[in-house]
Amino acid sequence: MKYGYFDDIQREYVITSPKTPQPWINYLGCEDFFSLISNTGGGYSFYKDAKLLRLTRYRYNNVPRDSNGHYYYIKENDSIWNPGWMPSKTPLDFYECHHGMGYSVIKGTKNQLASELTAFVPMGSACEINKLTLTNESNVSKNFSIFSYVEFCLWNAMDDMTNFQRNFSTGEVEVHGCAIYHKTEYRERRNHYAVYAVNSSIDGFDTDQDSFLGSYGENSAPEVVVSGQSKNSIASGWRPIGSHHLKVSLAPGESKTYVFVLGYVENAVEDKWVGNAEDGIINRAPAETLLAKFDTTEKVNQAFTDLKEYWNQLLSHFTISSSEEKLDRMVNIWHQYQCMVTFNMSRSASYYESGIGRGMGFRDSCQDLLGFVHLIPDRARERILDIASTQFEDGSAYHQYQPLTKKGNSDIGSGFNDDPLWLIAGTAAYIKETGDYSILDEQTPYDSDPLKATDLMEHLRRSFHYTMEHIGPHGLPLIGRADWNDCLNLNCFSTEPGESFQTFGPSEGPNAESIFIAGMFVKYGKDYVEICKHRGLVEEAKLAQKAISDMKKTVLDTGWDGEWYLRAYDHYQNKIGSKECVDGKIFIEPQGFCVMAEIGLEEGYCLKSLESVEKYLDTKYGIVLLQPPYHRYHVELGEISSYPPGYKENAGIFCHNNPWISIAETVVGRGNRAWEVYTRTCPAYIEDISEIHRTEPYVYSQMIAGKDAPNFGEAKNSWLTGTSAWTFLNVSQYILGIRPDYDGLIIDPCIPNTMDGFKAKRDFRGVTYHITVENPSHVEKGIKSVTVDGTLVESNIIPVAKDKSEVNVTVVMG
Ligand code: BGC
Ligand code: NOJ
Repeated sequence: MKYGYFDDIQREYVITSPKTPQPWINYLGCEDFFSLISNTGGGYSFYKDAKLLRLTRYRYNNVPRDSNGHYYYIKENDSIWNPGWMPSKTPLDFYECHHGMGYSVIKGTKNQLASELTAFVPMGSACEINKLTLTNESNVSKNFSIFSYVEFCLWNAMDDMTNFQRNFSTGEVEVHGCAIYHKTEYRERRNHYAVYAVNSSIDGFDTDQDSFLGSYGENSAPEVVVSGQSKNSIASGWRPIGSHHLKVSLAPGESKTYVFVLGYVENAVEDKWVGNAEDGIINRAPAETLLAKFDTTEKVNQAFTDLKEYWNQLLSHFTISSSEEKLDRMVNIWHQYQCMVTFNMSRSASYYESGIGRGMGFRDSCQDLLGFVHLIPDRARERILDIASTQFEDGSAYHQYQPLTKKGNSDIGSGFNDDPLWLIAGTAAYIKETGDYSILDEQTPYDSDPLKATDLMEHLRRSFHYTMEHIGPHGLPLIGRADWNDCLNLNCFSTEPGESFQTFGPSEGPNAESIFIAGMFVKYGKDYVEICKHRGLVEEAKLAQKAISDMKKTVLDTGWDGEWYLRAYDHYQNKIGSKECVDGKIFIEPQGFCVMAEIGLEEGYCLKSLESVEKYLDTKYGIVLLQPPYHRYHVELGEISSYPPGYKENAGIFCHNNPWISIAETVVGRGNRAWEVYTRTCPAYIEDISEIHRTEPYVYSQMIAGKDAPNFGEAKNSWLTGTSAWTFLNVSQYILGIRPDYDGLIIDPCIPNTMDGFKAKRDFRGVTYHITVENPSHVEKGIKSVTVDGTLVESNIIPVAKDKSEVNVTVVMG
């Protein structure tokens, strides 16, 4: 069952019922100001950091759920309704939500009064614009009121939710004309405030929540809206809000448009005391400048056009055209869009991540780079340097950092032993895309301390050596607190019955080892070797090459279980992910990574491993992470066994590692199977089962409940997942096979043999490549001929054209 449809021309998903199984959201903002917006108008805004600079409140555990947002109430006679249905839940005569690239349009009609709300964050300005158009579709005049409503957050979202004894006394606002200023913290000489304004004279306002909702009131029917008249309340402490009242008259057929702006303003440091800041009176000048940019419909329409143009340009770097409509839709639009969102958010703020718990992940953001480098290489460069700056001097890394401060998060700390290698992965992806080796010369701090800086190349060296030098009893990399699988905590023990767990200290170990990290070491070690060679570091390249060869041998000697790669050895040197285990006999991660690293490829291990994945882990909704699930809690395995069977890392379909298997299948040349793995979890291909899948059908979710769970097929944690980057990498670079490499663009498709071929346009280092792939013999992989601008060439690595801006490439498979 579907709740809407894709509109590929507009690049939108159009939702036709407000009652989607879960809130289906979109992200507004491409730079510093961000809003989450659901299909019913729920959501919230923040500036740069969802924890530290939150503009509006949201309550994740609220009942009814998703009942806070940036809302507009329409009151016509006794009827009160919202364009997006929530929070009044008054049935609408017509409803549609169009989620597009960085904007959402929500349309609602009631009693022949049509509303259209266009929400977006314009490029270059720190604000969310809501353009609201009301049209009288009846043949009589209409008189009604509009009440806007946002609930301000007192900036630090964690403090806002917990420190009420203080917060109920700090809230302050100012109101000047149609602009409501939320200035809590300004008195403390912070230099920021929020402004919420409309480009029209108003008939009243409210800034105090109790006055607006009424004591014990609800936002489904605020007292002010029910009475039809604002109270002009000025908040003093308690819960500040922003609400404007507009009385509107419309003749038959007439339309009126209003522009509401919710902005973030930060005085430049030198202007901090302009105005009478000592008394907490704000300096309104920068807000007025901001509002003046969007005070007419024409200016707003222009800003909207600019945003669309920005996306047209971004999505023009990689486009395909094939016989598969859904493939084209995902590659040209939604994969790349989700990659941008994960780049912006990492794992911080979604409808499943509160924006408080996690900031930017070291591992996560490095992986996100893999998907989006081609979209905005300059920002990728900056991101790599930001991430590397949180690395420790020994090569290990903070697992998370805050986007605002760009400093490592010491609550979470370090010890995830896969982290260092992801820095090599992200940097290599950047260099392959751009050819910009100068990034390696950038002076980059350790632990955010500029006094402890080296060039980035040295960071990569320390990453590689950290892994190489932290080796356990079998010669495999030590896992530390965990590797990619955060929940596989193998250095745990419990001292008292009922106690959760402790981890071994350095003197007793910790000894647990990871075959997954071994696979990563071999795969990204090859990139490290290439980069060393390019820098003329011959000895280091040799040393690294030897370490990689040794590691391959170690994996084959101690990491192979007969039919698949083992997952790990625990602290006591018991095997994890072996046929000898009762539960957790086979895990997906080492099968993906060891095959991608081509460990034992010639000897047939890779094919065998993938056959085992198909035999033991496959389901109709995707590949589960392990089998059989852990049926009881094991303290010596950690969080993984804390999940009920079939959920999350305990045998859920963890979407993130499905593309690893799909890529691995292209390594062994099985295009049909790579395709099957790709399409099984791909949003556009499973749109028809939205009532089972339940999350947004245009983006990936982190997890789909596995076959051992009661709700098999139900997805959770949509949007912020490494799946987006890995899937785009998979489909663009391995299935379609258009892969940037150090010395050119490799074209090496591995497609289903039913496919006749496809066309692609790929910008690469300033040149546009028009690529035609033909598959007349209907093979899955293999190339018969490559023609570049009419000339047959020997290699499928197309060098960067020096004197042309357009190149035509034809590849015939066979
Ligand atoms: C979750 C993992 C997640 C980790 C992040 C765990 O509780 O189950 O999926 O990766 O937290 O730190
Ligand atoms: C989600 C985390 O963001 C990611 O870093 C981790 O690799 C996976 N969960 C698996 O545990």
